[in-house]
Amino acid sequence: MIEILMIGAAYLLGSIPSGVWIGKLFFQTDIREHGSGNTGTTNTFRVLGKKAGTIVLILDIAKGTIAALLPVWLGLAIHPMVVGIFAVIGHVFPVFAYFKGGKAVATSAGIALGAQPLFVGILIILWSAILYLSSMVSLASIITLLVAAVASLFIGDWVFALIVWVAMIIVVVRHRSNIERIRNGEENRVPFGRNSSK
Ligand code: G3P
Repeated sequence: MIEILMIGAAYLLGSIPSGVWIGKLFFQTDIREHGSGNTGTTNTFRVLGKKAGTIVLILDIAKGTIAALLPVWLGLAIHPMVVGIFAVIGHVFPVFAYFKGGKAVATSAGIALGAQPLFVGILIILWSAILYLSSMVSLASIITLLVAAVASLFIGDWVFALIVWVAMIIVVVRHRSNIERIRNGEENRVPFGRNSSK
């Protein structure tokens, strides 16, 4: 029973649309109406700037990490990643934002951070390198999740690997429009790196 409540709590936590709420509260701007229309960190940076983007990044990662650590804090046997993935589902289908949420990258990183911090640290270096080379956050995110899924088979237990694969599939599916734009050479680029929009 407590496990079900925890999963519900993880979903509700993940459902907090930090980018949307920060935009509305402090900037009187709905980020869903600007840029890529996404509710996540990248579009917050794009639309509202560095400060808001950094806060949303921290909050979206924290949603996943807190959800994954709930069973650890409460001393429950349920796997942290199983609870954590419900925060990712909440982030993607948020009850507080008409079930239209983000693309799952930061919150997925957050749940893995709770279970395997070194693994996430190495992936952040990979993600940064791809971002520098391509100037495309979406490409960096997709490739990093694909690498994470393969690497997860050699790290931790099978539940950890299974949830990383689920997260990878969610991330790839949520990036369908980005993949289309990458293929057409039309993807949004950040204003830094070797192929920047500057
Ligand atoms: O994490 C989302 C990122 O990979 C792409 O975001 O707004 O460029 O579609 P966006």
